[in-house]
Amino acid sequence: MNYRTYLVAGCFLCIGIAKNLNGIATAGSSFRKSRQLACVFETSKIIPLTKELEIIRLNVRLLLSGTESEEARRSHSENHPQDNIPSFFVKESSLDILQHANEDINTLDCRISAYFTANTQIIWPGREIRASSLDSWFICTIKHTAEKYMTTAFLVQTHKENENHSQGQLSPGIAEQSHVSAVFLVHTRPSVVRSALSKDVLFDCAFSIDHQADVTIQWVLHRKGGHKKLMFTYNGSSKQVEHMADRAEMFLEEIPKGNASLLLRNVEMRDEGTYSCSVSVSSLTGEQAIQLQIEEKPTVIVNVNSLSLVEGEQYKLICDIRNYYPLDAQAQWLRELKGSRKVPDVVKNVLSSNHRQSSNGTYSFSRYFLLTASLEDNEHTYTCRVDHQSLQAPIRRSVIVQVRGTSIIWVLLLLLGLSVCLAVVLHYFYKVKSTAKPKPY
Ligand SMILES: *[C@@H]1O[C@H](CO)[C@@H](O)[C@H](O)[C@H]1NC(C)=O
Ligand SMILES: *[C@@H]1O[C@H](CO)[C@@H](O)[C@H](O)[C@H]1NC(C)=O
Repeated sequence: MNYRTYLVAGCFLCIGIAKNLNGIATAGSSFRKSRQLACVFETSKIIPLTKELEIIRLNVRLLLSGTESEEARRSHSENHPQDNIPSFFVKESSLDILQHANEDINTLDCRISAYFTANTQIIWPGREIRASSLDSWFICTIKHTAEKYMTTAFLVQTHKENENHSQGQLSPGIAEQSHVSAVFLVHTRPSVVRSALSKDVLFDCAFSIDHQADVTIQWVLHRKGGHKKLMFTYNGSSKQVEHMADRAEMFLEEIPKGNASLLLRNVEMRDEGTYSCSVSVSSLTGEQAIQLQIEEKPTVIVNVNSLSLVEGEQYKLICDIRNYYPLDAQAQWLRELKGSRKVPDVVKNVLSSNHRQSSNGTYSFSRYFLLTASLEDNEHTYTCRVDHQSLQAPIRRSVIVQVRGTSIIWVLLLLLGLSVCLAVVLHYFYKVKSTAKPKPY
């Protein structure tokens, strides 16, 4: 476990003060206010002998410039004079990262890595092309830990600053202080969309670029089994829709405003999977994913509402859990005295039917048991309690049971009945015997 895990845990436990090894986080402080964020710089190297790829992780920090930040930086360096955590200073002229990531910094997960340009110069307006050296590009991903959103920012380091800070390079190729500009952002929210069948789903994806540019947008669905399906392609240079899957739409008039959202109508089970929104400009492609999870609430039906039984009588209590999705659902039979505040007992010897899947992909099954009525069951409630991820609270369906004893009257009546039967049988037997007897003459 690293310190971010503690931060996340601390945040969820609503602990007032979270400790951060980078010394920059104080709980409850938003990114806009603190203007700094603890990040992990990820790089990889090939281990010479085994040729395996080794991932190297380094604690770094992302600092947003601005007056507040200067102050913060100064007070920060007073408090922590000589920590050698590498920093990425994001220039003021940059795109507003905060617009898409202003949240309590303890709920943000930030990763930075080098963006490999394969030794080609990325042509970007406002950046001079130089033969001697290439720009250094970085990609920074900020993710909300409760799946609210995710932002990818492309950061570019300038030549001049590169040269100024070339001394003090740290091992995996980053300077102690890197001055960067955020020039291209892609943002999606939330990271997981839950929807019932037959609904329309919006996959929200937005982008911003530091200049006017034609963007190409592509939406691809990655299904669980590994199948890919192209959902939508919009070509920015020709301003044409090149591909459009059934039931998929984009808001073409919104694209120039940085809206790359996809609308999927009348959702079906086969639409489940991960939707990636890729926005390409020049030779940069920002890609972000949103997961679609189908959820259908179960319908719970018990085969009877109330029961009136005689001691010893048997009755099969069946609880049907119908048309829910995904598969995992918990169903229990509970027994409790009517009006009692005690924790109910869980009924034992309950059986489950197999799961059945209907044509629309939803599942059904039942939980049942044979109730043999005893006087102890009188005035008891049997409840089928069903829990499923689609439910806020479990569904409960109850049966009230009344049990009568076999009273003395009933026994007497039974005896009377039996003796009448016996008399009839004896009479008949006697009659048959007397007619069957041969006459003596
Ligand atoms: C994009 O446009 C649609 C339709 O107007 C809207 O519902 C959605 O919220 C917009 N998304 C973004 C990210 O602006
Ligand atoms: C799925 O199919 C079942 C049985 O055919 C039906 O009862 C149920 O309403 C359907 N669910 C949805 C969401 O269409």
